[in-house]
Amino acid sequence: MTAIDRPTHVDTIIVNSSQLLTMAESGGVPGGAVAVKDGIVIETGRTEDLLRIYPGCPEIIDAGNQLVMPGFVDCHTHLVFAGERSGEMEMRLRGASYLEILKSGGGIHSTVRATRAASADELFDAGMERLDRMARNGTTTVEIKSGYGLDEETELKMLEVVRKLSADHTLDVAATYLGAHTIPSETDRNEYVRWLAGSSLETFSGYAEFFDVFCEEGAFSLEETEFLLEAAAQAGFKLKVHAGQFNDLGAARLAASMGAVSADHLENISDDDLDLMAKAGTVAVLLPGVPFFLQSSIYPNARRFIERGIPVALATDFNPGSCPSYSMQMMIALGVFFCGLTAAEALKAATLDAAKAIDRESETGSLEPGKKADIIILDVKSPGELPYYFGTNLVTKTMKGGILL
Ligand code: NIG
Ligand code: FE
Repeated sequence: MTAIDRPTHVDTIIVNSSQLLTMAESGGVPGGAVAVKDGIVIETGRTEDLLRIYPGCPEIIDAGNQLVMPGFVDCHTHLVFAGERSGEMEMRLRGASYLEILKSGGGIHSTVRATRAASADELFDAGMERLDRMARNGTTTVEIKSGYGLDEETELKMLEVVRKLSADHTLDVAATYLGAHTIPSETDRNEYVRWLAGSSLETFSGYAEFFDVFCEEGAFSLEETEFLLEAAAQAGFKLKVHAGQFNDLGAARLAASMGAVSADHLENISDDDLDLMAKAGTVAVLLPGVPFFLQSSIYPNARRFIERGIPVALATDFNPGSCPSYSMQMMIALGVFFCGLTAAEALKAATLDAAKAIDRESETGSLEPGKKADIIILDVKSPGELPYYFGTNLVTKTMKGGILL
């Protein structure tokens, strides 16, 4: 940035980091600082330079030789729901599988029953509390999916709750319509798919930016997924797909060929799918908390994506069935230990590339002039210490849009 673009003053300067990770360049600025005005990043640089350029800044935050980086973007969650499913965890510990529980009317169906029975206020209060927990763990932007209603009334209730969370909570929220989470047990399959691809898209197009499908055994077939994505794209939604979680049905290449913003999970996909994703620029969203929590040994292999230049994002998939974790720091550790990411790659996957997965990279995910001042300070010196000190919350300060939370 040239001196001419500089404002005469800024509101806040965060100084004395161990390293400032902007995500805009590789590596960090040792001892780096960041200047903020009106909730926006104005400039990054060395501490002594920014203090000299902006004398008399009213708020100086001393990072105390800790790591400063962009807030985490949790780009795949199912955060609005009622009930909990710890009983299913016990069943799995005795040998049942996730898909067996789903196919026998538990799993997603169990959360659908609880969510239908809950009031909008109950869902909203629980949602606010969960967003607070995420904020305390360093997350500053959250994608939230519907999909525990599977009927018009309850999907609407969920999406209205998401809208109210977006309005009332300090964190930014991106909304996804996931009526195509599974087929509700009481409804005829064809009738449900017709409703999803028809009037439901009109009803919900004002509520959600993205449309997502769970393409999997026990949920939607590849043909149904294609039919649904085509209709959703027609209706103006941006597309996402739950692809290759347990079985390779071909959803990742479908997502790529249809210009989806992201394909998510991706434990089981072919090299051909990867080549198509690379060509199309589809973001690969890896959710390593899911195999961890389901005690699977099959993790997505991040190297396969990175060697083809596919942007890799990490997210929690926060939900009551397959990953009830609020912690992007835990996902970074799992991404490093089980998916083959380096610590530096994992941090980029949890910020800038996660922002890409929800089309928010022009406003968040890196510390660059003009982007939101979504900034966290962590009690570590370098990226490698994040996975190293796994399992505890290392965040000491979270700033959202220039405001310390
Ligand atoms: O992303 N895979 C499908 N949906 C969620 C799990 C939802 C649930 O079990 O409630 C997932 O893993
Ligand atoms: Fe999911």
